[in-house]
Amino acid sequence: MKILIIGGTGTIGKKVSDHLSKKHDIIIGGRESGDVKVDIANSKSIEALFEFVGKMDAIVCIAGEAKWAPFDSMSEDDFYIGIKSKLMGQVNLVRIGQNYLNAGGSFTLTTGILADHPVLLTSSAAMVNGGIHSFVKAVSLELSNGCRINVV
Ligand SMILES: NC(=O)c1ccc[n+]([C@@H]2O[C@H](COP(=O)([O-])OP(=O)(O)OC[C@H]3O[C@@H](n4cnc5c(N)ncnc54)[C@H](OP(=O)(O)O)[C@@H]3O)[C@@H](O)[C@H]2O)c1
Repeated sequence: MKILIIGGTGTIGKKVSDHLSKKHDIIIGGRESGDVKVDIANSKSIEALFEFVGKMDAIVCIAGEAKWAPFDSMSEDDFYIGIKSKLMGQVNLVRIGQNYLNAGGSFTLTTGILADHPVLLTSSAAMVNGGIHSFVKAVSLELSNGCRINVV
């Protein structure tokens, strides 16, 4: 399979890309690292990425940031970091990427345990993770051509 892995050089991504590269053709995307440059917080950058790499059999995202800080110190802009990067970055990857996913292909997004078990400082990170979970449940009902979506 031809697999695009955004964040494939990161702490988690490196393990995933090392594993998948044994049996598949992988392309790694990142802002500074990887084979192709992309910033998922910028939808124009995502469009340019797909125009460059073309159609994929699977699209994996193991990237996206959110600010960790005490809730009483969080500004509106602090919340927008996670919304623009981890939440809308992955939503836009699916929104744009659906046009570049082969029939029967799959999206795999990343969240984290904070969605269900938040700890101190994670009002933004937990919120973003929960939003992605709900997005994936809903959009899985609408993907066409036998395409699937999962979140880890
Ligand atoms: N590590 C954990 O224990 C853990 C636990 C739960 C959830 N998670 C989640 O898993 C994801 C990855 O975590 P990690 O610890 O592996 O992170 P990491 O080590 O910081 O790696 C992040 C990877 O994503 C890329 N990246 C970051 N922002 C990007 C952007 N805006 N556009 C494109 N690529 C971007 C980075 O490459 P460039 O710098 O080149 O862009 C890098 O390859 C995060 O969403 C994190 O919240 C991690």
